[in-house]
Amino acid sequence: MKQKHNERGVQRQHFGGEKGRDGGGARCSWSLDHSQEAWRTPQDFLTAPSPAGSDKSAVAMATHIRAEDRFFWLVWQFGVTEASGTMLRTGMRLLALALCVSAGGDFDWTKNEKTSFYYGTFPTGFSWGVGSSAYQTEGAWNTDGKGMSIWDVFAHKKGKISSNETGDSSCEGYYKFKDDINLMKEMKLNHYRFSVSWPRILPSGLRSEHVNEKGIRYYSDLIDLLLDSKITPVVTLYHWDLPQVLQEKYGGWQNASMVGYFNEFANLCFERFGNRVKHWITFNNPWSISVEGYETGEHAPGLRMRGSGAYKAAHHIIKAHAKVWHTYDMKWRSKQKGLIGISLTADWGEPVDVSNQRDVEAAERYIHFYLGWFATPLFHGDYPAVMKEYIGTFTLCSGRKSGQQGLGASRLPVFSPQEKSYVRGTVDFLGLGHYTTRYVTQKNYPSGFGDSYFADRDLAELVDPKWPDPGSEWLYSVPWGFRRLLNFVKTQYGNPMIYVTENGVSEKMQCTDLCDDWRMQYFREYINELLKAVRDGVNVKGYTAWSLLDGFEWDEGFSERFGLYFVDFRNKNKPRFPKASVQFYKRIISSNGFPNQREVESWKRKAVETCSSSNQLLAADPLVGHMEMVTEIVVPTVCTLCILLSAVFFMFLLRRRL
Ligand code: NOJ
Repeated sequence: MKQKHNERGVQRQHFGGEKGRDGGGARCSWSLDHSQEAWRTPQDFLTAPSPAGSDKSAVAMATHIRAEDRFFWLVWQFGVTEASGTMLRTGMRLLALALCVSAGGDFDWTKNEKTSFYYGTFPTGFSWGVGSSAYQTEGAWNTDGKGMSIWDVFAHKKGKISSNETGDSSCEGYYKFKDDINLMKEMKLNHYRFSVSWPRILPSGLRSEHVNEKGIRYYSDLIDLLLDSKITPVVTLYHWDLPQVLQEKYGGWQNASMVGYFNEFANLCFERFGNRVKHWITFNNPWSISVEGYETGEHAPGLRMRGSGAYKAAHHIIKAHAKVWHTYDMKWRSKQKGLIGISLTADWGEPVDVSNQRDVEAAERYIHFYLGWFATPLFHGDYPAVMKEYIGTFTLCSGRKSGQQGLGASRLPVFSPQEKSYVRGTVDFLGLGHYTTRYVTQKNYPSGFGDSYFADRDLAELVDPKWPDPGSEWLYSVPWGFRRLLNFVKTQYGNPMIYVTENGVSEKMQCTDLCDDWRMQYFREYINELLKAVRDGVNVKGYTAWSLLDGFEWDEGFSERFGLYFVDFRNKNKPRFPKASVQFYKRIISSNGFPNQREVESWKRKAVETCSSSNQLLAADPLVGHMEMVTEIVVPTVCTLCILLSAVFFMFLLRRRL
């Protein structure tokens, strides 16, 4: 998931040669190569030890690359060196470690099997889907009684979004949902994940004020058509578009009253759609809502409340999730028999050196500050111990930021004993979004650095320049990280039922090649790591490719395309064109995985055969757009002029006769 280095008050420093990023066409033909040693049989896969030296490979590579100055140091420019090494400090550290650092459950950090491609299939009934969200695709921002959301307002402010783009019309999904369901039918999808725009059905955010029946009708029709098409709707209640009124009146997620308002909105959705929807996701990626909305301000509502705003927002979101789960449990579950989950997004954090305890702890902190921040309260009833220590006031522990800063109370809010038992166990399934990985090492931030979520973690993130990054600058393709993350979830949270709710890769705007080799490669390898995780015993029930269509990519506008379908945003009809990855994903779905080498190797070739004709269609699209302009503007204008002229001529003739 996106974490922009510059928004963390740090700069990316580049030591050494240029990365393979040249924009436009060159990137279109880039292939990802993660070639690895071959496995022999499925049984070998389940029992074989790590390939010789693989545990050490990250370390070796890191050392090697460091020697060559080839790492991109994402966080290093402050010149803050590691702890001064005095005896006293060492003693304190050991004590602090014993007292404060949360154990990583059964997760074995040293067991990183970067194994070769595994041929096999997913369990029967595994669900394949694609995802989207309301603001990113619907458009119709002020149509049919919809209220404003914080994203409508944010995107309309100059300088917030790349090229000042907005989601006003986006993919026009509000009008084209029937076409889109046809695309899904062709792919033989099992489920479709979409989100409900809160202000589309409750324009002021409050049920007591006004329910917009046209908005309800839209989602109701969408759900009906999906079910008619044998596609299971998976509905997200909050994919970031809070009603603007709630932001203005109460300060949005900074205010505890949001817990009740969100519950009312959710309750309305259960009442109107719950007879047909059985999979609910309360929040999409609360990390992003909190950090990008209230810490860095890159996202709506654009607030920069460093070191406190994100923690407060997260606290209310966790409580809101729990309240909705309890509402469903008490009021609807017995009748509707559905499930309530939450979608958490997290990168994997790999220790730079797995044999170095400090690196392992730093990596573990990275994951707890990301995923554990939300998952640990929901599964275990409280924030991860390591977050409480590092942000808290307890001065014996190595982090103790609030204490060092002379604050009486922790910037991380505290759950009361009642709240702990109220939030614990409120996840019927865990939605997991995952895109990329970072190497992580220990880095101390001085107390004078100021309040900051990022500094609270005391770590530095690094990337390997050999990792392919075909699209968004934060998104490096590191498939093995996916399996590691899934296994971490299994060990930390008691092997919960998981649906992968997001996974995919983007390309830049300039690249209009529908033969998206890099995306096929990304899906092939990430889904294969998922398969390995399933074989490891991780309880994954479904996978959602992100996303069905290119859409409004938040502060990046339309410049980053995640879609399986290309959307021509220049054309006001927003036509969709299949990228080669549509064919590729379709084959994974129809085979329920990767049946055998011979077949899988033919998939890419076959997919590429079809995409060249799509490329031609797309190339002709400006022409089509031009033709449309001719029929929709020029022809009517010329006709009107002719009629006017004839009328004048006719009157002139009449007058001459009289
Ligand atoms: C996570 C968000 O949930 C989604 O809206 C976004 O498009 C993807 N990440 C890609 O950045």
